[in-house]
Amino acid sequence: MTEFTKQELVDILRDDSQNDWLFSLADKVRQENTGDEIHLRGLIEFSNYCKNTCKYCGLRAENSKIDRYRMSADDIIKCAKSAVDIGYKTIVLQSGEDVFFTSDKLCEIVSGIKDFGVAVTLSVGERSFEEYQAFKRAGADRYLIRIETTDKDLYKQMHPNMSFENRLRCLRDLKTLGYEVGTGCLVGLPNQTVESLADDILFFKEINADMIGIGPFIPHPQTPLGKAKIGSLTLALKVMALTRILLPDINIPATTAMETLNPNGRIIALQSGANVVMPNVNNVQNGKKYEIYPNKSGICEDLQLAKASLEDKIKTIGRTVSATQGFRYDNGK
Ligand code: 5AD
Repeated sequence: MTEFTKQELVDILRDDSQNDWLFSLADKVRQENTGDEIHLRGLIEFSNYCKNTCKYCGLRAENSKIDRYRMSADDIIKCAKSAVDIGYKTIVLQSGEDVFFTSDKLCEIVSGIKDFGVAVTLSVGERSFEEYQAFKRAGADRYLIRIETTDKDLYKQMHPNMSFENRLRCLRDLKTLGYEVGTGCLVGLPNQTVESLADDILFFKEINADMIGIGPFIPHPQTPLGKAKIGSLTLALKVMALTRILLPDINIPATTAMETLNPNGRIIALQSGANVVMPNVNNVQNGKKYEIYPNKSGICEDLQLAKASLEDKIKTIGRTVSATQGFRYDNGK
């Protein structure tokens, strides 16, 4: 297995002359370890309320211009059912950190969706060990919570009233409870260094993450970083490719932020180490309101048509859509 020192990672991230080599190597490692199947995860963004004030995120509590919405438990379960009916094998439930959704409410939703015989991934932010345990008992299989950056100073600048230690505690608790754990980072935040990106990659390896989502930072006008410089798609792809090389068998999505910066971003990512796509299965109104950053790609009127067109694209690059739930460690489902 390939290992890189921090210095080697920094050198690769700095030097763009070997990018083609890097992307082909990541593609080869992906092919040899996860094969040619792509896992589709149906993403339901069920509430855009958030108590946090992350400097980069359009959902931040201090953004008074955003039109807030919250789906009912019933609607979330119905939305999941329509995604399952058209073939999704995993449902991802994502929201801002919305205290309205108590542990009991979320458990009810998770178990309602588990009845459809699919994998359930939660992405609802920082909660206590007990809550994570309750979600797991209700049937949740996976959990996504990005570390965002491992640079503690930058973390502090970006996340007022939050703590890096608590973020780590969440990741530890989720691992202890037996979730498949996903984390990841933003690429191109103001004051972020290439050295800290190298640390991020080594961190993913150190905690043996099961899933890694990486996206370029896209400034949102209604945030304190509205006028900041946009992140580089190429650099984000490089961080992703290096992550694939260091963690050969994990699940790595071609992220929506990548597609937002380039209309072919998803396909490029799938050919540079990624093996997962997470299409939005929200209704259009809510999809538009879940504005983490502007012009978010992939909001579609017709779920079935969107899925079919994605599958066509996937076939054109010689890949297929998986019929399994796509766990890191194949458990026969
Ligand atoms: N640009 C890109 N990604 C963002 N996220 C939040 N705000 C932005 C932005 N402005 C990412 C964070 C979060 C994920 C759900 O969306 O990394 O974990």
